[in-house]
Amino acid sequence: MSNSGKFKLPNKSYKGVIDRYKKYLPITKCTPIISLQEGDTPLIYAEKISSFLGKNFKVFLKYEGLNPTGSFKDRGMTMAISKAKEEGAKAVICASTGNTSASAAAFSAKGNLKCIVVIPKGAIALGKLAQALIHKAVVIAVKGNFDDALSVVREISDNYPVKLVNSINPYRIEGQKTAAFEICDYLKRAPDFHCLPVGNAGNITAYWKGYKEYYAYKKISSLPQMLGFQAKGSAPIVKGYPIAKPKTIATAIKIGNPASWKQALGAKKESKGLINAVSDSQILAAYKLLTEREGVFVEPASAASIAGLLALNRDGFFNKFKNNKKEFIITCTLTGHGLKDPQIAIKSVKTPPLVSAKAEAVVKIAKI
Ligand code: F0G
Repeated sequence: MSNSGKFKLPNKSYKGVIDRYKKYLPITKCTPIISLQEGDTPLIYAEKISSFLGKNFKVFLKYEGLNPTGSFKDRGMTMAISKAKEEGAKAVICASTGNTSASAAAFSAKGNLKCIVVIPKGAIALGKLAQALIHKAVVIAVKGNFDDALSVVREISDNYPVKLVNSINPYRIEGQKTAAFEICDYLKRAPDFHCLPVGNAGNITAYWKGYKEYYAYKKISSLPQMLGFQAKGSAPIVKGYPIAKPKTIATAIKIGNPASWKQALGAKKESKGLINAVSDSQILAAYKLLTEREGVFVEPASAASIAGLLALNRDGFFNKFKNNKKEFIITCTLTGHGLKDPQIAIKSVKTPPLVSAKAEAVVKIAKI
């Protein structure tokens, strides 16, 4: 089961999402498991954000930035790469706004696969580009956006012996659904609402699948309402038509024609949820709120969950649940780590002052 060679890992040690949730995943005894011990991420109680909503609300942050490559993509990638190995693939390919490529590159390194990454020119956060390159993926930029890059890799994987590991690959969704399982296992129930950013729409598809399966297995007795958020300049699902030139500072979700559009609409409809848009300034405000008040550093796209939650609260969406005897649980997926995009972080704060190397100079500025 484990890929640890002759060294046997202690039985109870954590071995990643496939090992923990194999019962619910399409793997066989022959599947070679390529894992970096992804998953098992914290569900952090957000005290300040909860207080904005009211006494009977508890908001939890599913901090997916603590996965091995710093994003939720690792859950799906362990499945996609393990199945690619099982099927005898020698190479994998993906288009990416950055996190998929970082994850594909790392798991390919672990699994001895060639990894080809096609990215939109100039639209990838620095940390993510560094990851793909340092794991020795073949990184190629195209003159176009993510949607153009995705159609290129689709065409290549249809015609050449390379496996596509974007979330169109069903094994990616299978792996990613484990985040919903973890949340329910931790809370010992399903949340009432689940907020998450929506880009190519794989993750909302995966969470909804996970919640529905746990419900079918009677592990939970209710289902959450799925609340998805796109960036205003890249909100095809909200608008109802593809966006030719998507725009947003949240580069991870700068997508104009999501591959899992239909599934996202299904999740919205079945869960009686919604998919709304949030502006870049709302995203940045939520980004700062998370770092300054909750101590959690995420990349801008991840902050769309919180921006959306706060906008709904302001618009009165939760009013009918307030001052209720029942306690409402809201989970928000924070999809990627803040260190992925250091440039945005630095841009959003003041440059530190430079003083002489003397205690009194530091004391004065620090107002000690
Ligand atoms: N948040 C982050 C940090 C992401 O990297 C992505 C997607 C999303 C949210 C949206 O998730 O696409 O499943 O709706 N990033 C992809 C990539 C597109 O190439 O890394 P989604």
